Order: sequence, then structure tokens, then C-alpha cells
Amino acid sequence: MPRRRITFRQLETFAAVARLKSFSRAAEALHLTQPAVSIQIRQVADVIGLPVFEQHGREIALTPAGEELLVAARGLDDVWNRFESAIAGLKGLRRGKLRVALVTTAKYFLPRMLGAFCRRYPDIDIELEIANRERIVERLRGNQDDLYVMSYPPADLDIVSRPFLDNELVVVAPPGHPAAGRRLTLADLAGEHFLLREAGSGSRHAVDEHLRDAGVRLDVRLSLSSNEAIRDLVASGLGLAVLSRHALGDALARGELVVLDVAGFPLRRPWSVVHLRGKVLPLPAQAFLDELLRAGGDGA
Ligand code: PGA
Repeated sequence: MPRRRITFRQLETFAAVARLKSFSRAAEALHLTQPAVSIQIRQVADVIGLPVFEQHGREIALTPAGEELLVAARGLDDVWNRFESAIAGLKGLRRGKLRVALVTTAKYFLPRMLGAFCRRYPDIDIELEIANRERIVERLRGNQDDLYVMSYPPADLDIVSRPFLDNELVVVAPPGHPAAGRRLTLADLAGEHFLLREAGSGSRHAVDEHLRDAGVRLDVRLSLSSNEAIRDLVASGLGLAVLSRHALGDALARGELVVLDVAGFPLRRPWSVVHLRGKVLPLPAQAFLDELLRAGGDGA
């Protein structure tokens, strides 16, 4: 393979097209013209001897050769980031980039921790990605970021997973709900309407797994991807929900919601910071990981 004929620049263009699934959006992001992007992608395909994208209707998708190239491009990106961090370390600086991906529910506390880190290391660039668990696990599988925060690390990947903060999922109801203040069994929940997070979210995974083990089926009236919308709909009397305490904000203090006393709840799954086992973390990622574990140990 004539490796020297694919340039970093072409790989960067290729990765942008793969990420944005569009030549024109990649051109815009890279401040290039669309023909310039097309030429670079054609040059890459010529060097490899196989096309790297194919047209699916109006969308473009990676070919198997393109998938392989994307894995290689991300690996090179990792190596380069590590190199930059090492040089920054040699200069006694904490420069470089920190790429963190979080599940939706971690957005209530993690950005604050990240903010404190940014103030301490103002020269580190941060890339933050927030999506539901399924999408974050997909990013982890593709080695797209340095660190991942979730409470259900996947069992099928070779990862290092370090718990750092407690997480409780509770059953919430509007105040005045007939079940409020009573001791409930899981079977009591079967007669209620529920508003739950969407399939693919960690929160839904937790509920489904727990209730499947207990042999209870919930009447799920609505599945939503927004914790805030669920919280507000429960407060307005549309049903019950299972949410992380982190997602409740001050709704309990303001009397908009109450936590029901249900056997088997709260579900406890700590927040973990996760990375691929083979990943050599760049210095900023190592520093942030240490900080999360320290903060967790301090009971943050
Ligand atoms: P979610 O994940 O935000 O996708 O529900 C929460 C979790 O992993 O506990």
C-alpha cells in the first residue's frame, strides 16, 4: 500500500465527510469548495484502489474500505494527539485537547466538573459530546473520544471502567398522587401510566432490566428523549416516571414532584468514567480522569 500518497489533509477531509455524511457540509466545515473535497476523496480512493463512500439515496455512506480507513484515521488521530500532549508535557504545559462524551443524564453534573478543569487548564481545548447511551457506546466502540461517562458501561467491549459518583434512579409522581406516602411493591406500579426515556437510553435500560428480572410490565404511555420533558409532564399529572435524581433539578424542593417509596427502588448504578483498555490517554484526558476520581472520592 503506497502509504505516503495519502496525506493528513486528505484523511482529515475524509473523516469530515464520514462524520457529516455530506460532501457539501464537509466542505463548509473545512472552508473548502465542494469540488476540492470531491477531488481529495477521489485521490484517497485511487490510492486505496477501492471507493470509500457510496450513495444511498440522497445520503452517502462508508463502504467497507471506507470503514477500515476511518478506523485507521482515528487511530492516527489518537497517535497525533498523544504526540502533541507529550510535546506539551515536555514544554511543561498542559496544552492539547480533551474529548469527552457523556450520556444525556450526566449533563447535569459533568459540565460543572469540566468547567472547573477548564479554569485550571485554560489552554486545553475541550470537545464535549452529549447523546443517549446507545450513541455514546457507539462512539466508544469507534474510539471517537478519550473518555466516556455513563452508568451502564457495555459488557461486550474491552474497556476500563472506574465508578466515581453515586447515581440513584427513583420513581417520581406529582404531589397528591394517591400512591404518595405509601409503601408500594413493584406489582403496584403495573396499574399506573408511565413516561419513560426512549429505548437506547441508559435510564430506560435500567428500568427495563430491573422490571424484566422482577417479571413486572409497565404501561408505558410515552417514550421521550428528554429528561426535562418527562419531569414536566409528570408534574402536570400525565403519569409516573423513573428518573435519575440528577435529572430532577429542584423539582422536589419546589414541590412539583414527589419520590415514591417503591420496593427495589432507588436503583443504584454509579456513574463511571470509561475508556478503551488499549487507549493510551493523552495527558489532558489522564489529568481529567484523575480529577474525576479524586472528586468522587471527596464525595462530589
Ligand atoms: P441516558 O443514560 O442519559 O442515556 O439515559 C443514563 C445512564 O447511563 O444512566
